[in-house]
Amino acid sequence: MATLGIDIGGSGVKGAPVDTIGGDLLTERFRVPTPQPSDVTSVVEAVAEVAAQFDDFDRVGITFPGVVVDGVTRTAANVDKSWLDAPAAELFSQRLGKPVTVLNDADAAGAAEVAFGAGHDQRGLIMMLTFGTGIGSALFLDGVLIPNTEFGHLELDGKDAEARASDRAREAEDMSWEKWAGRVEDYLKHVEMLLSPRLFIIGGGVSKKSDKFFPLIDIRTPMVPATLLNNAGIIGAAVAAEQAETGSPVQV
Ligand code: BGC
Repeated sequence: MATLGIDIGGSGVKGAPVDTIGGDLLTERFRVPTPQPSDVTSVVEAVAEVAAQFDDFDRVGITFPGVVVDGVTRTAANVDKSWLDAPAAELFSQRLGKPVTVLNDADAAGAAEVAFGAGHDQRGLIMMLTFGTGIGSALFLDGVLIPNTEFGHLELDGKDAEARASDRAREAEDMSWEKWAGRVEDYLKHVEMLLSPRLFIIGGGVSKKSDKFFPLIDIRTPMVPATLLNNAGIIGAAVAAEQAETGSPVQV
């Protein structure tokens, strides 16, 4: 009953078999660079290359950096536009010869954090936000995922929030931590005004450096860094793949 989790990110496609009870990887993960351009055919091959490193798995959960409804990818903000309306779950499943569940990358990372990491044992409305190439969001009410929320595309200062406050924007504009934290604070204040979550879990690669920017952010809502870091997407994808077999919504 082994389950493989695979995370399609802006720079790498990473995967490993997952212990979905303990919330950990069963072996070291394997990574290949995300193909450029990141079109459907190339990414399906990259995923197959990762999966080929592992034998003996029964099902696969795969994250995608966009909206995914019933296995079909509906948006493609930071990947090749060939993903718009692609039957992703079917394509991966045909290539890998196993049942495949595809879900949004932030939803997967959030599911893992709420089940095993920074949101463990927290009830009520919890929001995970990932700051990376884009801004991903995942919303949970009493441990049940409300999928595909896309709060990274709220408008901030007249622009798409992720164009102003993602980690990519910080790097591209060579912003100081102070300047970037100011934008993140504006963004978080906007989100808390709209939703009043009980907790923000801040993920994405930059959450490793939370000591550099958390002290600069002043908001009402408690805020914690993600704890599973690079493996959250892989773990959450595997959990979702197992739950899909019972037809239940992602619940943690
Ligand atoms: C996408 C989201 C995704 C986020 C992080 C955004 O641009 O629209 O679906 O979760 O980036 O990858």
